[in-house]
Amino acid sequence: MFEYIKFEVENRVAVITLNNPAKLNAISFTMMEEMHTALDRLEADGNIRVLMIWGGEKVFGAGMDITRDKSGEKESPPTDNPVARRLHTLYDRISRLPMAVVAAVAGYALGGGFELALACDIRIFSENAKVGLPELNLGTIPCGGGTQRLPRIIGAGRAKELIFTCDRIGAEEAYRLGIANRIVKEGALYGEAMALAKRLAEKAPLAVEMAKHAVDTGLEADLDTGLLIEMRNSAPLKYTQDYTEGVTAFKEKREPQFQGR
Ligand code: COA
Repeated sequence: MFEYIKFEVENRVAVITLNNPAKLNAISFTMMEEMHTALDRLEADGNIRVLMIWGGEKVFGAGMDITRDKSGEKESPPTDNPVARRLHTLYDRISRLPMAVVAAVAGYALGGGFELALACDIRIFSENAKVGLPELNLGTIPCGGGTQRLPRIIGAGRAKELIFTCDRIGAEEAYRLGIANRIVKEGALYGEAMALAKRLAEKAPLAVEMAKHAVDTGLEADLDTGLLIEMRNSAPLKYTQDYTEGVTAFKEKREPQFQGR
């Protein structure tokens, strides 16, 4: 069905695997369309609680496919960048999913590959990970959200240094800067990221959705507005079956079984 990705569901965790090894998982328009189709399936499923995105234990993704055949691509007006437009549409869709999205990053995550990881909620890095935004070396700029999401994660000064220099940084430096949530041993990435994803899949789905929305929208607002968003997002949760279940399970000293209702 898919040529450039794999889509699997393990319990309630969906896994998208970038799968274009001959080009180090370079991202083509076809790969982007396949990812949209995978997201359509994920959204239709109703039982999936976490999405994990990775490219295997060797490479996450080397960015947009630089060597693609552009002959079929329409010439765009000077103010438009169809590549940016498509990357934004896809990565925004991923970042706004009402569930936790975990990026498991091994080897190179460059350009659009790195930007995909930046659109995820949590990033687990293998010791062999190397990330960077090499676009300025090609005479262009990051256009999959890199100039916006990276400074929001690590601050403007450090983001500008990485963007201007095109330096590739390893897992330790990425962890130090707050890009990587944690680093795991080479070869252990899938197991560690899946273990985290399964833990997150046990949480109350509506609460995860509300918490994610509060953090993401609150970060773009002043504190007062952010606190109001937090209050408004928490309010409906008290009417959910999962809230009743959480409190009951606490009193009965057992693990809660959340249903997403
Ligand atoms: N688009 C298309 N093909 C790519 C690619 C990309 N972004 N990145 C790597 N490839 C291809 C290479 O052309 C090569 O193909 P070939 O074997 O047919 O020659 C293959 O993947 C392996 O890459 P190679 O460069 O030989 O591996 P390496 O280990 O020496 O270097 C990188 C790895 C990632 C450092 C290097 O491939 C690179 O710099 N890639 C481009 C990264 C980039 O600029 N991304 C931003 C795009 S906007």
